[in-house]
Amino acid sequence: MRFDVVSIFPEYLAPLELSLIGKARTDGLLQLTVHDLRAFTVDRHRTVDDTPYGGGAGMVMKPEPWAMALESIVAGDSTAESAASGRKPTLIVPSPAGEVFTQKLAYELAEEDHLVFACGRYEGIDERVLDWAAEHYTVRPVSLGDYVLNGGEVAVLAMVEAIGRLIPGVVGNPESLIEESHSDGLLEYPVYTKPSTWREREVPDVLLSGNHGKIAKFRMEQQLRRTAARRPDLITELDGSSLSKASRDVLWDLGYAVVDGVVTRRPND
Ligand code: 6GU
Repeated sequence: MRFDVVSIFPEYLAPLELSLIGKARTDGLLQLTVHDLRAFTVDRHRTVDDTPYGGGAGMVMKPEPWAMALESIVAGDSTAESAASGRKPTLIVPSPAGEVFTQKLAYELAEEDHLVFACGRYEGIDERVLDWAAEHYTVRPVSLGDYVLNGGEVAVLAMVEAIGRLIPGVVGNPESLIEESHSDGLLEYPVYTKPSTWREREVPDVLLSGNHGKIAKFRMEQQLRRTAARRPDLITELDGSSLSKASRDVLWDLGYAVVDGVVTRRPND
């Protein structure tokens, strides 16, 4: 899998040389190139922004450096996997105005041959770049969530890590992908390690019992309780028809009912 990132702050992406993603790069599991947008300017001042038509605060990124950068990346792709597969590369445009990045989207993007990330700064990139790029790319504006960052770089660090770790071989123990938060629509259960008593706090007894059936039930219940407390929006998105009797009983306890495969909040009287 190939990743290209275009930014006016290429040094911001240096953490992608570390840890799991850095190792995957040196192991050849993924190729990642960071490009400096200013390398695609032609004026003496290497200008990447200008004032917005229609007025308003801040500056807008000029279209031509982006077109030059994105064209050069597509041109460099001619011998690569995505050319062979006949699929267009995906252009991800980090933006608080995009669709929300989720684990589901991470899995979807991990299936692609080639992802290109266009890090905007200031008030964003001239909108025409996104229309124009659709000729060569599948264009997807993507947001990390409902808050505002100064630019796309931090969002790209998060997305490359979330996507990269789903590529086979990147995470040493694939089991850890199965049990983690969001993989089954629920938050992860709490975890504990030695010592069993620490500063007067005990590890739940059941985890020391060696009874694997009871442990699994305890963890399932913890997942449901924690998700109901912290992310009730995820509870009502569960597929009720795939829940066990034990799960449905816990949900009932938490004030939910499963009717025709749909999980709904029970009216409290
Ligand atoms: Cl992807 N970019 C920016 N600039 N701000 C954000 C974001 C992305 N996601 C949430 N806030």
